[in-house]
Order: sequence, then C-alpha cells, then structure tokens
Amino acid sequence: MKIQHVVGARPNFMKAAPVYRALAARGHEQTLVHTGQHYDTLMSDVFFKALEIPNPDESLNVGSGSHAQQTASIMSRFEPVVLAHRPDIVLVYGDVNSTVAAALVCSKIGIRVGHVESGLRSFDRSMPEEINRLITDQLADLLFTPSIDGDENLAREGIATEKVFFVGNVMIDTLIRFLPKADEVFPELKAVLSLDAFGLVTLHRPSNVDEESVFLPMLEVLDNLSEKLPLLFPVHPRTQQRWSARLERCNPNLRVIAPLGYLEFLALQKNARVVITDSGGIQEETTYLGTPCLTLRENTERPITLTLGTNSLIGRDWELLRRKFCEALDGRQKLTGRPPFWDGKASERIAEILTRQAS
Ligand code: UD1
Repeated sequence: MKIQHVVGARPNFMKAAPVYRALAARGHEQTLVHTGQHYDTLMSDVFFKALEIPNPDESLNVGSGSHAQQTASIMSRFEPVVLAHRPDIVLVYGDVNSTVAAALVCSKIGIRVGHVESGLRSFDRSMPEEINRLITDQLADLLFTPSIDGDENLAREGIATEKVFFVGNVMIDTLIRFLPKADEVFPELKAVLSLDAFGLVTLHRPSNVDEESVFLPMLEVLDNLSEKLPLLFPVHPRTQQRWSARLERCNPNLRVIAPLGYLEFLALQKNARVVITDSGGIQEETTYLGTPCLTLRENTERPITLTLGTNSLIGRDWELLRRKFCEALDGRQKLTGRPPFWDGKASERIAEILTRQAS
C-alpha cells in the first residue's frame, strides 16, 4: 500500500514518527511531506533528528501567515505533490492548519484520508484547532481516536462507526520509546541549567499570548509563583516575538529559555514538580508521567486527562492557580491512572488496520 504522511508543525512530528515506523515494519511504501508550517531549526529539524524520522520526501516551505494564507498556501503547494505521488491513503495528524489543508485537498481529488488523533473536541469554536478538528473529521475516511470520548464525539456528529477506530495515543508511543533516552540526557541538562527543584511553563495559544490585557497579568502571577519554586519557561517563537522586551524583565526565578528539543523537554516534564501550560499534548504527556499539570485554559479537548490523569483546568482563576500550585508542591497531587490504550502500541494498531484494509 502507498501511504503518504503530511506533517507541518511541532506537535505533528511525535505523532507521525511511530506510525511511520510501524508501517515500515510491515513493508508499506511510504512518503513524507513536510509543509513547513514550522520551519525554525528548534521547532522542526531537531525533532526529526531526535525522533529518528527520515528526511521529508517533499518540503512545501509554506512558512507563516494568517490562517487563510497559510492554509491556502499548503493546499496549493500540496495538490501537485499528492497528484504526482498518487498514494492509496494520506495520513494527517492532530489539529494544525497543515492537517485540515491536506485533508481538504485529498477529499476533493478522491484520495483517501486517515486522521490520527481524531474525535477530540473542546466545544470552543473560537480555537482555530477546533475548526481544524471538526472539518478534518468530516472529511476523513478512517478516523483513529486516542480516547473513547473521541468515539462518542464522532458518533454524535453522525460519523459512521465503521470508519472510527479507537487505537489509543500515538504520542504516548513516542514518549514510551524515548523515555530511557530522556533519562540519559537529564543529568547533563540538570547540571547545565543548574536545576534543583523546579516547575515548567509553556504558553503559546493566541488566546493567552496575543493580548496585553491577558498575557501581562498572567506573567505577573508566574513571576510571583516563581518565588515559591523556580520556573523554567521555554518560549515558543510566537510568544517570544510578541513579548521579547517584557520577557527580559522577568523575575530571575522565572527563567526564560529558547525552545527545547524533544528529549530535553520530556526529561524536564518528568522531573518537574509541576507543569503550567496551555498546550494540548503536554496535558497528555504529564498525565502519563504522573506530573501535576495546571492548564491555563477554560476548556480542554482532552477531558480524559482531567478524569484519569493529573490535569486541572485553571482558566484565568489566579487564586485557583496558586492553590493548585501549592498543593502540587506539598505533594498533594491527584491520584493518577492511565487512560486505556495509552500503552505504546497505538501505532501498531493503526498499522494493523491499514494493512488489513490493503488486503
Ligand atoms: C501551531 C498550531 C497549534 C499548535 C502549535 C504548536 C495551528 C492553527 N496552530 O501554532 O495548534 O499547538 O503550532 O507549536 O496550526 N513561528 C516561528 N517559527 C516557526 C513557526 C512559527 O517564528 O518555526 C512564529 C511565526 O511568527 C508565526 C507564529 O510563530 O506567525 C505562529 O506560528 P503558526 O504556525 O501560525 O502557529 P503556532 O502558534 O505555532
């Protein structure tokens, strides 16, 4: 079977890596398209290297732009590429602009689409990712869900159950595979960063970092919390570009650093006393690792991390943030379970299903 993978942004890379591997082991012919949505070395190349992903067969080099510009640019550059390769199926990942753009192109020219990490819903259409999820799932021919809430959401939206497969979380496949290597890099990282006890912060959502009236009070609260526990803050380019001058004036305990590689960030998540984030994937990784996660959002498309994991939704309730932060420091964290099928074998399940479809 000829399979084409489309990736574009940082959170795609750790999802595609294990699926590519599992399909390679079954002898499928594969190609990889990188849209170039993320293009900085620290946002892209270092992940290909650390995750042992082969170099892309095709690079679309679309770069940044408004949502319409970026999505349109991916579509117009991807169409001739996919027509030239004529794969039997295109696999798209997650909820970024590259995901929806590739799905839309394929569905119009009659090439089947498989969506990995299907069915997640925040029920918040002001999030660009929610629009990407809704459209991609409507267009996909095979939908691979990471948790059972995904199956329920898809059923409610009228998607035929025969197309939906609960396979588990492919990002956790990557985490499980690379955790021993992350453990190896941690001692040196700890020495280089002079770390003792620490917390970890990431913020990049437009709803949090674009507006001064939202971001500055948030940063002030983090400045304050860093007096109780030093906080490490690897900054996404979006946040850096918008706030470089203000970030330079942070409390020295709130340490602003460049984005980190996969192994380094995984090692920090495992060893942090607490993680404060607005990312989607980090809610899942901390749940698996048992690290308390305080999510600075009003909702999550990953509710299983609230019920079976270590995640708490904080929104912009700074009192709640302080309380949960102190609880985490006192070791009074939520008891963790691990969601079903977050077991390192989700990609194997996807590869099995695709192999069955081919025969
Ligand atoms: C994208 C995804 C988001 C995901 C995030 C992970 C969409 C709609 N959003 O958001 O779901 O959580 O990736 O990082 O697809 N930039 C650089 N260098 C890069 C990439 C981006 O400097 O390599 C800067 C540019 O100024 C760009 C801005 O970051 O305009 C935003 O990049 P973009 O790809 O539009 O969205 P992200 O915020 O990265």
